[in-house]
Amino acid sequence: MNYSYSDGSTPVGLDVGTSRIVAAWPADNGYRFSSQLNSFVTLPNSRLTEGVLRKESVPHTVRGNEIIVHGNESERFADLIGAELRRPMTKGFLNPGEPESMPMMQNLLLSLLGPAAHARQKLFFSVPAPPLGAHDSLTYHEATLRQILGELGYDAKPINEGLAVIYSELESSNYTGIGISFGGGLCNVCMSYLAVPVIQFSVPKGGDFIDSNAAAVTGEMINRIRMIKEDGFFFNAISPDKAHQVLSVYYDDVIQSVVQAMRDVFQQAKSLPRLGRPIPLVLSGGSVLAGGFRERFEQALRQNDFPVPISEVRLAAEPLNSTSRGAVIAALSEM
Ligand SMILES: Nc1ncnc2c1ncn2[C@@H]1O[C@H](COP(=O)(O)OP(=O)(O)OP(=O)(O)O)[C@@H](O)[C@H]1O
Ligand SMILES: [Mg+2]
Repeated sequence: MNYSYSDGSTPVGLDVGTSRIVAAWPADNGYRFSSQLNSFVTLPNSRLTEGVLRKESVPHTVRGNEIIVHGNESERFADLIGAELRRPMTKGFLNPGEPESMPMMQNLLLSLLGPAAHARQKLFFSVPAPPLGAHDSLTYHEATLRQILGELGYDAKPINEGLAVIYSELESSNYTGIGISFGGGLCNVCMSYLAVPVIQFSVPKGGDFIDSNAAAVTGEMINRIRMIKEDGFFFNAISPDKAHQVLSVYYDDVIQSVVQAMRDVFQQAKSLPRLGRPIPLVLSGGSVLAGGFRERFEQALRQNDFPVPISEVRLAAEPLNSTSRGAVIAALSEM
């Protein structure tokens, strides 16, 4: 059941991720989450197929001679018919090269959230920080999501993904510290001082980069590599398994890219607050679920002379939910 305030309003937090979209609502015992894969697949249209999909309640749309299956079921159907999954987003942003990205996003958000329950229902949606040294993709991405969510009736505002991780995980340090999300499309880094973001940037590498490069080297399908990775990959220098060995090479590449970018950005920052004491660093996002990730990251940080003293490096309590949790906390703070 939805948790509502005395004025009947219910805030929503939304994590618009390259691989998954997660919604969060306040609930009696904390928060309630629901998620959909951010992907789709097209099937040839036939009355029979459509009838079966409807009977099985598989989210889909019929367009001309195609049926589009989107969200969680798309993976199974892509596998069944041997087709590639199509993705509305790439590297953290709406994919301008995918003509269906906007209608697919509309369908996914409608099936996940439904229309707003009341006038001016508050919703915070996560957006990546601008990638270092890349052209601006944020303006179009943010404006399009605002438009889609506005059409569903929400009063929608963006929140930086790294800051959302801090809101979710660093209440105990008064929202002072570093939050990093290691996602599918990219990694987001944010440093905040008393809930005010001081530094934020993204690195355009994540789980997808690991999967596609490991697939190219091993000759496996990307999907297969992703399944191997999600099903028990752990960092181990002497793994006899070829796929694990290749995965760890690209995993290390992502960790090194983020840590080196952090060192450079923090070293060059002109306006770092005088902190007085070491600050906590929290790791979140699906890519931190690999066994031994925390230790590997901490080791890389130590080897790279990171200029800010860190009190602890810890994993988020629920790495797949912290962005949406932080977004709903941001919405609650404005009630
Ligand atoms: N158990 C697991 N072990 C390793 N990796 C995992 C595991 N579960 C999920 N992942 C990986 O996490 C990534 C997705 O993480 P997440 O859901 O945080 O990304 P996202 O928010 O959708 O993307 P982004 O924030 O980059 O736009 C994928 O690359 C996925 O393969
Ligand atoms: Mg994410």
